[in-house]
Amino acid sequence: MQSHRGEWSSKIGFILAASGSAIGLGNIWRYPYIVGKNGGAAFVIIYLLIVVIIGLPYMLGELALGRSSQKNPVGAIGAIKPGSWWKGVGYLGVLTGLGILSFYGVIAGWTVGYVFKMFSGAPGNFAAFISEPVQVTLLLAFFIFITAAIVHGGVSGGIERWSKILMPIMFVLMVILIIYAVSLPGSGAGLRFYLMPDFSKIDGNVILAALGQAFFSLSLGMGLMITYGSYVTKSDDLFSSAGYIVFFDSLIAIMSGLIIFPALFASGQDPEAGAKLVFVVFPELFMNMPFGAIIGGIFFILLSVAALTSTISLLEVPVAFLVDEKKFHRKQIVWVVAGIAFLLGLPSALSQGANEFFSNFGLIPERLADPDFLSQMSFVFGDFSLAFGALLLSIFIGWVWGAKAAAAEIAQGSRFFGKVFNIWVIMMRYVIPLSIFIILLNLFGLFN
Ligand code: TRP
Repeated sequence: MQSHRGEWSSKIGFILAASGSAIGLGNIWRYPYIVGKNGGAAFVIIYLLIVVIIGLPYMLGELALGRSSQKNPVGAIGAIKPGSWWKGVGYLGVLTGLGILSFYGVIAGWTVGYVFKMFSGAPGNFAAFISEPVQVTLLLAFFIFITAAIVHGGVSGGIERWSKILMPIMFVLMVILIIYAVSLPGSGAGLRFYLMPDFSKIDGNVILAALGQAFFSLSLGMGLMITYGSYVTKSDDLFSSAGYIVFFDSLIAIMSGLIIFPALFASGQDPEAGAKLVFVVFPELFMNMPFGAIIGGIFFILLSVAALTSTISLLEVPVAFLVDEKKFHRKQIVWVVAGIAFLLGLPSALSQGANEFFSNFGLIPERLADPDFLSQMSFVFGDFSLAFGALLLSIFIGWVWGAKAAAAEIAQGSRFFGKVFNIWVIMMRYVIPLSIFIILLNLFGLFN
């Protein structure tokens, strides 16, 4: 039974695929602009605390549920609590995957556009580029198509091999960019903004943003780690694997901040510029350095690849559900799901100036999200849905399945988990659900 569902070829293969899912636009595009919006260094500290205290133990819970049931989120929950409404949490995850894929594909499309713009030597104006309706629609279609083609043909071989080559190159390139950015005159103010905390900037909204960013960046809260965990063998060490995934993901995010903030302050730009930060600051940085057009082009290729290993995982969750539970053929249903993601992505693609209605959609209050459709989708699926899903999943894992059963699953194959077994049980049952709950209450303005 195991063999027909598929399995990671090795522990490294699993760590790479899961890190590939985690590392993406969330680290290099979203993280710096969220840090910029939320006041810099103090946010970074809160973010890292949440990653270690909530993100890591929660990730273990999802992985354990997946490996124990060998199923997608809906199937995994159904196996433990048949015929209950808890299955709805699995459905929410499937829907959230589609929702994130739709707007994520738009931004991933822009990164592909920027590969060509950088190589051409004249990146031009970002606002003009993203408000051009035909271009952005074609780029979205292209990115969703490539994603679907890979999920269609089976993920492991190609993607694992590509990640092994491309991720280290990306890492080296980022190190070079850090050295360059830090050496720019005037970059010190950026380092201070990024590394010297001012705790007066912390309030409830900042903590919510940190939690949302942590779950988004680690690919948590919608059952992705249940799905990927379901392909892990019993003899693998989930505990150390999760440690590596969390470490790599945080490292890449921190490094991206070390490039962007020094460069940003050196060129006198505003850290609160929001979603366009990376597309404006990076090209400017490249165009001022030797061989900038080539290095910039390569950088955006790698960013596209990082985004691709994430969109693959986002598409894999609804596909795995439809194949496992509804008995569709993977090779056909992939195109249907991809088509839906494309249609759902269109309003986001057109919301950056191309279409007035979607650019000023404004259904969600201004204090929570910008009025354009893409930002609103990002809030609903990328922040709220992940936090809400994680709250329900942590209650399910901690209380319905049982934290002890989950911990026993993690302990199987792990050398060191025994030492933190009891702490993890307490985290899973009390600390994680309570923290998420309080943060969600704050979302509805109860503490403001
Ligand atoms: N983690 C990815 C990023 O940082 C985005 C992503 C991929 C994701 N799969 C996910 C987010 C599943 C939440 C859930 O770019």
